[in-house]
Amino acid sequence: MFFDTHCHLNDRRYQKDIKGYVERAREAGVNYLLVVAWDVGSSKKAIKIAEKFPNVYAAVGIHPTDAVKTPKSDIQELELLLTHPKVVAVGEIGLDYHWIKNPKEREIEYEFFVAQIELANKYKKPVIIHMRDATNDTYEILKNNTPKYQGVMHSYSGSKEMVKRFTDLGFYISLGGPVTFLNAREPKEVALVVPEDKLLIETDAPYLTPHPYRGKINESAKIPLIATAIAAIRNVSVEKVEEFTTKNAKRLFRI
Ligand code: NI
Repeated sequence: MFFDTHCHLNDRRYQKDIKGYVERAREAGVNYLLVVAWDVGSSKKAIKIAEKFPNVYAAVGIHPTDAVKTPKSDIQELELLLTHPKVVAVGEIGLDYHWIKNPKEREIEYEFFVAQIELANKYKKPVIIHMRDATNDTYEILKNNTPKYQGVMHSYSGSKEMVKRFTDLGFYISLGGPVTFLNAREPKEVALVVPEDKLLIETDAPYLTPHPYRGKINESAKIPLIATAIAAIRNVSVEKVEEFTTKNAKRLFRI
């Protein structure tokens, strides 16, 4: 059984076919899904979906690019959701310097990031980190405000050299579609060096559709393509990747 540790089944594009999405995932052997939010509305939606299906869980949080257009009071609203039994993580949170260039807006990203790490610690949840073009600052924040219940570097796009520094802070490394891309060098290098007990897999659906379906909408049923690519890189069987990534996810999210 595979565990898709990061999908956005709460995205509007899936609204009419949530049941079909979950069924297609199961048929592909993907029995566990974590539906990840980007703001308060999508957090509530993730919980609603998780309530309907066994083995479907929710993460609640405010994404850095959403933080810049969000009132601070949303943090309190988010806090109310953290006691729900199907909420297993705070996310996605972090820093995005690709889309956010303005220093004042980056300051807002930073404040939401730290406030949500504190929430995660208070409610004993791991964190799901979005990090884009901001490796050094993300690392510094995590080092100075270390999440007590660990977390995952989602769709990790840092270097293989940084892998050890993040895993030393207690983080898991999650890989998705880019590891299947023919021209992607770095994710393949990362797939080789992450310790077996720290690697997770994810689709980030509807984004980052694996090869050979790039350009189409992604979904959790495509997880075996990602596991197959990682298995080839690490020279182990797909079953082995399936086994250890699911075991890691269950350990991290306490399922
Ligand atoms: Ni995402």
